[in-house]
Amino acid sequence: MKKLVSVTLVLCMMLSLAACGSSSNVEGTAKKGVLVMATNAEFPPYEYHEGDDIVGIDAEIAAAIAQRLGCELKIEDIAFDSIIPAVVSGKADIGLAGMTVTEDRKKSVDFSDSYASSSQVVIVKEDSGITGLGDLGADSVVGVQTGTTGDIYCSDDDSIGTVERYNKGMEAVQALTQGKLDAVVIDSEPAKVFVSENPGLVILDESYTDEQYAAAIRKDNAALLNNVNQALAELKADGTLDAIVAKYISAE
Ligand code: ARG
Repeated sequence: MKKLVSVTLVLCMMLSLAACGSSSNVEGTAKKGVLVMATNAEFPPYEYHEGDDIVGIDAEIAAAIAQRLGCELKIEDIAFDSIIPAVVSGKADIGLAGMTVTEDRKKSVDFSDSYASSSQVVIVKEDSGITGLGDLGADSVVGVQTGTTGDIYCSDDDSIGTVERYNKGMEAVQALTQGKLDAVVIDSEPAKVFVSENPGLVILDESYTDEQYAAAIRKDNAALLNNVNQALAELKADGTLDAIVAKYISAE
């Protein structure tokens, strides 16, 4: 009996190790049964600081995935443009950061199935007179968070004058309130949070692009990709994902 128990224990451990980690990463995080998530916790309601904790939709999704994989979750808060490098180098197992699936990023990492849709929106001052993207002329100065899709689209948009890059979306929004910018381009849900916290700002009706969020996983880690997709499918099917989203985003 004792033997059976220990064999079962060893089997369980092996299974959970396989679930957490990758074949290429057995010596690292996987061995410890830890799922390391890289994020940038400046992005409410997806990830942000609450006291000493990092909370939000992505943090809870990651916790639910880790639980299903039998791993402990460890969250690393880093610059947004360091997340893909962290995943590629194996420092992190998963990048979960309201990260938009793009063809360019797909060259470096694999993406899980999508768990949310979003769009890039434009925040302006209430009295700016700017009513649409067409009003952002050649003299305009637009703020973005470095390395985000907002940054990429604005930098590619010849109708915009100058793109100012900030480490945090919130810093761009503050620069807008101080009159240093004409607009900020950022994801729709953080935009709503930032506008609610900074009086005098509005979000234009016209949105810039539609996007899908997914988890970034190292390319040679098909086992983890499969496990994450399976966990996501379960979270969608049993209502957990909807419940997490509803906790942070009130239905309009
Ligand atoms: N969705 C945008 C992108 O993928 C912005 C994501 C920013 N996320 C963050 N945690 N700061 O580029």
